Amino acid sequence: MKEPLVRFSVAIGGELLRKFDQYRETHRYPNRSEAVRGLMRGALIEDVIADDASEAMGVVTLIYDHHVGRIARRLTDLQHDHLDRVVTTTHVHLDAHRCLEVILLRGPAREIRDLANDLIGTKGVETGRLVLAPALPVPGRGGEEAAAERDEHHHDHLHEHADGHRHHHDKP
Ligand code: NI
Repeated sequence: MKEPLVRFSVAIGGELLRKFDQYRETHRYPNRSEAVRGLMRGALIEDVIADDASEAMGVVTLIYDHHVGRIARRLTDLQHDHLDRVVTTTHVHLDAHRCLEVILLRGPAREIRDLANDLIGTKGVETGRLVLAPALPVPGRGGEEAAAERDEHHHDHLHEHADGHRHHHDKP
């Protein structure tokens, strides 16, 4: 069921507002509401995946030289030891020596972090990184409010604003 949008005002000015507007433009947010929602969701997601027990998706990206030691074998062994955590693996041969491997993991955040660290720390890995995302929905899914805002405008072109003046919105 759709919950109604709540509008609230925020007092902000000076440097913080200027930086925020720059950020909004750089990140292609169409308006301030969308940018604030994006930042709020980002903070909530950080909070969720910081919890070791939370169900998480982990994307591990590794670059390594497959000639170094027995690295390919070691990486494969590690993944076979954690069958229940490895969702899929993609291997790309970058050039004559270097390989890119993207490993998708799922499980409790703590376990995913530990396994990612083992993979990234494997001797011979040139560079590696982990991006964590919550596996379960976090409040305020992207686009939901934007759609509700559009609907709101669509159904009621003439808005009564808090300060009493009315004005017309061009966009449907
Ligand atoms: Ni390769």
